[in-house]
Amino acid sequence: SVSSAFDFAPNLFPLSSTAQGYTALGAPSNPALDASNALNGGSLEKNKSLTYLNGLSLVVGLIIGSGIFSSPSQVNKNAGSPGASLLVWVVAGILAWTGAASYAELGGAIPLNGGAQVYLQKIFGEWAGFLFTWCAVVVLKPGSAAIIAIIFGEYLVRAIIGAEAAEASIWLNKGVALAGLVTVTLLNCVSTKLGTRSADVFMFLKFIALLGVTVTGIVVAVTGFSYKGPASDDWKTKGWFDGTNTDVSNWAVALYAGLWAFDGWDNVNYVTAEFKNPTRDLPRVIHTSLPLVILCYIMANIAYFLVLPTELIESTNTVAVAFGNQVFGPIGSLILALFVSGSCFGALNATTFTSGRLVYAAGKEGYLPELFGTIGLGKSHRAIRLHTLNANPSMSKISRKFVDWFADADAGFFFTPISAMSLNALLTAVYVLIGSFDTLVTFYGVAGYSFYFLAVLGLIILRVKEPELERPYKTWITTPIIFCCVSLFLLSRAVFAQPFQTLLVVAFMVVGLVIWFAWVGRRRGKERQRFRHVKQEENEKVGWKFWKRWRG
Ligand code: ARG
Repeated sequence: SVSSAFDFAPNLFPLSSTAQGYTALGAPSNPALDASNALNGGSLEKNKSLTYLNGLSLVVGLIIGSGIFSSPSQVNKNAGSPGASLLVWVVAGILAWTGAASYAELGGAIPLNGGAQVYLQKIFGEWAGFLFTWCAVVVLKPGSAAIIAIIFGEYLVRAIIGAEAAEASIWLNKGVALAGLVTVTLLNCVSTKLGTRSADVFMFLKFIALLGVTVTGIVVAVTGFSYKGPASDDWKTKGWFDGTNTDVSNWAVALYAGLWAFDGWDNVNYVTAEFKNPTRDLPRVIHTSLPLVILCYIMANIAYFLVLPTELIESTNTVAVAFGNQVFGPIGSLILALFVSGSCFGALNATTFTSGRLVYAAGKEGYLPELFGTIGLGKSHRAIRLHTLNANPSMSKISRKFVDWFADADAGFFFTPISAMSLNALLTAVYVLIGSFDTLVTFYGVAGYSFYFLAVLGLIILRVKEPELERPYKTWITTPIIFCCVSLFLLSRAVFAQPFQTLLVVAFMVVGLVIWFAWVGRRRGKERQRFRHVKQEENEKVGWKFWKRWRG
């Protein structure tokens, strides 16, 4: 019953339709079942449907996006030499791998929906969960969407009017980026199915593009053939480590760019509960998908080096277009530009979908104004359906079906978190307008890795504090330790390498904390006092002790 990676997306934040209405986060019953309710339209037998291969395609499909086609310039610029760049790619890949393994352990130990929000909340307290949600809503989600949109714009503009004309105006790129953003948001507002279905196609595109680049690069290196005269011989004449940068801060910036391409590995544990055999398959998925992606990226980078002069790689955000142009001429650059913009469109689509759910869940939790926790046109959908059916008792069966379908949570039109997605689109647009690929990647990296670091640190704390806690999957303790050390290095260097972006991230966090301690947290404390008798709250309070008992 699982046909594509994006079918799993509803599990990120269970938006399950029940007779009573929608529920999100903090469901008192079994969240694993809850999640698969959203997936399978309520039938419980069908949950736990994911196999090893499903998981593999899910992770690989989520990770490969814009990064491998756009990060190389920033990696090379800052690492200084091809050899050093490849090293950065390897380190970034391994860091992502250790992070994914750590997250898998967390996901197994705390099998609740919501990812880092829940882990931080259980381990450090509710303020930490809020801080993550706040940053995800204002920085992480719109920031990552903006990066993808910008790359989408740059590639599509090159496909349409050619590379030379595209260099002329950044505003054209940004305009196209915004147009893509609006299209994707509308698509997702109209219907969930419409949005997720179109994603399938794009997953194939990126695989083909990446494989094509690798194979082509090797063929060019072996045969020496390329459309635009002989390919660059930098790789033969220059030393692979000539010009390596000695400033560690630059290495940190290069790493952030590499990490962007590997980002998305945290998504795997949103679906832990869906696996038929999570104990066996989850580690298998991680320990094959990440090496696979690392290998793909290294190969693609080598292909770039074999064909293009190093200066060119360093100076372009659209390295794949330069690659296509060198090997196959204008047709080549057009094809690659189309492929990559398609890949970005797919990634933008997926991220819009999940962001909508995240903002929606935050609205439901009371972390954001209530407006953002509403679905579609508010209550009117259900009302329209009831009214239509009541007013026309003699309606034909087919018409009834149609009305039902229109108001159906999964297939129905406009039955989506419209206000949540609008907020997300608005913030994304701001980042697109004021940011660039280079600035946003570091900005996103600093914010993202702060929370990855905290969550993985939480894993270590949990090992000490709760040694008895059932962990279906347990990594070697060295894994989270490596992750924590490297990400701490990254975060500390960011202050020197990109002080402005770092300051901005810190400012957002401070604002988040102020909002929590001055307002949301206090209000929630009061509410909790008032509704102490409500069972759901009770369950929430017992938190994961409850889980231990329940699972035991
Ligand atoms: N690695 C992806 C890319 O190269 C970015 C993933 C964005 N992160 C996320 N959690 N959706 O485009």
